[in-house]
Amino acid sequence: MSEKSWFFAFKEEDLAEGSMDIARVKVTPVLPINKSGTIYSLYGKCKHKGCRISKGSFSDEYTLVCAGHAWEYDIRSGEDLGDEDESLEIYENKVEDGEIFVLL
Ligand code: FES
Repeated sequence: MSEKSWFFAFKEEDLAEGSMDIARVKVTPVLPINKSGTIYSLYGKCKHKGCRISKGSFSDEYTLVCAGHAWEYDIRSGEDLGDEDESLEIYENKVEDGEIFVLL
């Protein structure tokens, strides 16, 4: 197994409070989300049929609903909140000098 490293994902100034976007880090789609002053970084494609999860919306503070077929995920843990056991990977991240890095 290869060792993880920090990779640049996004500029903090481009991720306003309450927003999310998609970044390709190496070959991995990563979804950085700015929620209540915390940055969360999750895998960027829905585990159901692969829709871009950044097209989804929030049903409450931390529940992200996929625009495809309404699967729900907790952005704090990536946990699938439905009947499936298909959580999104969540990546450790850090902000340095206004840049968001993820550990992959
Ligand atoms: S692709 Fe996300 S719920 Fe179907």
